[in-house]
Amino acid sequence: KTEIVPLDAQGLDRAATCLRLGGLVAFPTETVYGLGADATNDKAVAGIFEAKGRPQFNPLIVHFPDLASLERHVEMTPLAHKLASLFWPGPMTLVLKRKPRSKLSRLVSAGLDTVAVRLPAQGGARDLMRLTDRPIAAPSANASGRLSPTLAAHVLSSLDGRVDLILDGGACGVGLESTVLDATGDSPILLRPGGLAAEVVEQALGIGRMTRSLEDEKAPKSPGMLLSHYAPGLPVRLNAEAATSGEAYLSFGDRSGNANLSPGGDLVEAAANLFRMLHELDDPARFTGIAVAPIPESGLGLAINDRLKRAAQ
Ligand code: TXA
Ligand code: MG
Repeated sequence: KTEIVPLDAQGLDRAATCLRLGGLVAFPTETVYGLGADATNDKAVAGIFEAKGRPQFNPLIVHFPDLASLERHVEMTPLAHKLASLFWPGPMTLVLKRKPRSKLSRLVSAGLDTVAVRLPAQGGARDLMRLTDRPIAAPSANASGRLSPTLAAHVLSSLDGRVDLILDGGACGVGLESTVLDATGDSPILLRPGGLAAEVVEQALGIGRMTRSLEDEKAPKSPGMLLSHYAPGLPVRLNAEAATSGEAYLSFGDRSGNANLSPGGDLVEAAANLFRMLHELDDPARFTGIAVAPIPESGLGLAINDRLKRAAQ
């Protein structure tokens, strides 16, 4: 009963109606496809966890069309204002203290006193939120622990029958989930590397290397950063100079392979291709595993390697 509709005026209208009635709609953002529900409706938000088959209630990102509606629900800090003016709308999520009078479902915070919020850049996503006139809670639109979707077809293959409507807006431009920053204090903490490179944030703020919660045992963790995330069905082997017999080779730069993340060695292009190419090579009828070429650890390479490490668990 899942329907795919094009992201046009009619599709947006149907999607907004479905969301307002408590339904689940998958929609494209510039990062990945999200599995959306009305963030003020407990039952609808619970439906997200059920559809994804999430083992526990990980907190969810809540999406807004503009800053004014976002500020009704979270306490903006001076740091958050600065980051918002620099990088929103865009592939950045800020974790902020929830306002006491916010009507957001408690389920989006999974027991924390904070909420992760984002203003997506993708025009279709913003149109949908404006039409719906509700904050939209949306994790990536994949079954729990599987690869994030960057095409409507990826959503259908992992959530067919579990989502009411899929808005097809083509491929996601960034192709990696948003960068999650804790902005409750004076300096940002990187909770999840993503589509906005950490170095870009540091340079824009004129600060040194920010704390990365993955490396610092004492820093707060993003509860969704489970190591088994983003897993294809086939085993994944990293930093491979070549494939062994039976393996698919996912290359980077001037090596040849079954797929190449970026023949020119461009990490932005590699990020946009990552999940789609892993989806394509994750085919047990053709391969026994996926070997991945070394990816440089700079810029978006940090997030790409993070996702690859999870895929290889
Ligand atoms: O690009 C994205 O961020 C996509 C699109 C759809 O916006 N969404 C996405 O959502 O990746 P999800 O649920 O797959 O990942 C949300 C991440 C998780 O790592 C989660 O633990 C973290 O954000 N998170 C959410 N709320 C949090 C909170 N209150 N405190 C700390 N981390 C939080
Ligand atoms: Mg996810």
